[in-house]
This record gives sequence, C-alpha cells and structure tokens, in this order.
Amino acid sequence: MIILAIESSCDDTGAALIEDGKKILSNILSSQDEVHKRYGGVVPELASRRHLENIVPVIRGTLDEAHKSLDDVHGVAVTRGPGLVGSLLVGIMAAKAIAHAKGLPLAGVNHLMGHLLAIFLEQEVAFPFIGMVASGGHTSLYMAEGFTAMRPLGRTRDDAAGEAFDKVAKYLGLGYPGGIIIEQLARKGDPGAIPFPRAYIAKESLDFSFSGIKTAVVNYVRAHPPSEDGIADIAASFQEAVVDVLVDKTIWAAQRHQVDRVVVSGGVASNNRLRERLQQEGEQVGIQPYFPPHFLCRDNAAMIGVAGYHLLKKGERDGLDMSALSRWPLEKGLAP
Ligand code: KG4
Ligand code: ZN
Repeated sequence: MIILAIESSCDDTGAALIEDGKKILSNILSSQDEVHKRYGGVVPELASRRHLENIVPVIRGTLDEAHKSLDDVHGVAVTRGPGLVGSLLVGIMAAKAIAHAKGLPLAGVNHLMGHLLAIFLEQEVAFPFIGMVASGGHTSLYMAEGFTAMRPLGRTRDDAAGEAFDKVAKYLGLGYPGGIIIEQLARKGDPGAIPFPRAYIAKESLDFSFSGIKTAVVNYVRAHPPSEDGIADIAASFQEAVVDVLVDKTIWAAQRHQVDRVVVSGGVASNNRLRERLQQEGEQVGIQPYFPPHFLCRDNAAMIGVAGYHLLKKGERDGLDMSALSRWPLEKGLAP
C-alpha cells in the first residue's frame, strides 16, 4: 500500500511516498530556514505563503523521484495539527484535492504521532515503548502502546526544548535555528563551566519547564559579558542543563512504567550530546534508546506517511470537511 504523505505544519513543506508504513520510496523537504532566519523565528504569514508556492512542486517532485504517478497511490495522509493553521491548511487543501480527484481515502494525522512513529522507517521497535518528542513546538513524553495508541505522560508547561535553544541562540546573536548552532559551539566549551538551573518541577514529575533556564542565561550574560571562549562555555553549560532534564525524565518515565525501550524524536533528538548521554545512562539502568536518523528527527512528510498508513489500515477515514487543528493533544492518536 503506497501512501502519499504531506506535511506543512510549520515552516517546512514536505511530501513523501511511503510503502506499507515503513519503506521510503521518496521524501522531499523544502526548508524555509532562509526565509525566517532574519527574523530569528518562524513568521506564520510568510510560512503559509511559502507553502503555497512550494506545495505543488514538492508533491510533483516526490512522485517523480519515486517514478510514480497519482495512479500508483492508495491513500493520502496529511498533517491535520497541531501547528500553524495557515500553514496546515495549505497541505490539507492539497491532500483533499488529490483524494477527491482520485477517489482515494484521506487520513488527517496528528503531527506528534508522526514524530513518534518516524523510527519505523529505519527499524522495528516492539511496543510498548516510551516516546519523547522534543522539538521547537513540543516537549512531551508518551506511553506508546501501539501504532495508534499513545498516552500522554508529561509535557512542557512553558517553552519547548527546541524553543529554548532557539531563544538562547537568538539572545547570544548566534543565528537561527539555534539548536544545531549551539550544539556546534558547545563542542568547544566546558559543560560544567556554569551551573545553570535544572528545572525538575517536582520530584519524579514528567512535566518540563524550559523558560527559567533561558532567563538564567540572559541574567548570566548581563552580569558577565562573555569573551568568545566564554560564549562556548555558555552554550555547553546551557545544552548540558537541557540534556540533563530530558535524559532524567525520559528514564524516570521508562522506570515508572516498567518499559525498557525509549524512542526519542523531534528536531532536538538530532542533538548528539542528548543521544550520547541517553545511551550512556540508559545502558546503566538497562534501558535501550532508539533515535531516528537526523533527517527523520526534524519535521518531514515520511513520518506522516507511517502514521497515515496505520490509521487507514485500521479503517480511519477523514472527509473533505476535515479542518486544521492548531491544538490537538495526542490521546490514543485518533480523533480530536
Ligand atoms: O521537529 P522540528 O524540525 O520542528 C518542530 O516541529 O518544531 O524541530 C525544530 C527544533 C528547533 O527548535 C531547533 O533549534 C531544534 O529542533 N534542533 C536542535 C538541534 N537540531 C534542531 N536542538 C538541539 N540540538 C540540535 N542539534
Ligand atoms: Zn515537529
């Protein structure tokens, strides 16, 4: 079964062809980083306009790359939410038009469910597992009991982890998006140089809070204007504080629910320090972490194709009246 998947929830336009929920026939992503860079963050109005320009060439490109036509497609999956409504609508309209014109079943996919299932494009992971999505918009922990059964365990109460990376990078004048820039700079710094606060909220809590650390960085820089080496120490110490909290809470979630597998996804899962630390600490307590390859951690349409395949296989269908959802908490992965 070949699914045409479309993702346009934020600032990247993606389309992919996925076979049987696991094989990537083609996967195209048109990044808008260049557009939003100068503003230090995503500008929703610019994002939706750029999606409009990109959506048809990206879909055509993904069909061409796989040497397929719409006649070879068995279903259409599209991100329904959560995300920027103006951006989501562009993908949804394209998906509806194709589903209607070709008489294909349509599945509206929860973007977070897509992130949690991205790993299956690379390898099988047995259920149940703890899933963490850490991105620019989300930092959430789930108990994944099946392809379409995900239960929320905790989430951020303020900023997302990626948002903290982006805001700190912007404040330090380093550029956008901040995660990768901070990670590169952190390699030259000392992670133990500055004891930034780790916000655990309450003992054993599975919720997150990252706005305090951002303020701590601002206060530190005001009090100690840094040299070039000093900036690398700030980057490394900041990254270490965020990674400590992400690693500890993911392990707590696994221990509390007696699960020995954790899957980490979302843009922040690209962070090599996070990967390294979770691997090391997981090993000590018998927990195996799984990370999708970098290109599947960030937003992409391929992961939406995995989720769409499992929804359609289960008989889930959305009609042409399907709306975009700016907020859509993932509970059991299905209806809003
Ligand atoms: O999943 P994603 O592409 O989009 C959202 O759904 O938000 O994640 C983007 C976020 C950005 O905040 C970016 O700074 C962060 O992921 N990010 C990273 C790294 N690469 C991307 N954060 C930390 N370390 C990285 N290497
Ligand atoms: Zn995402």
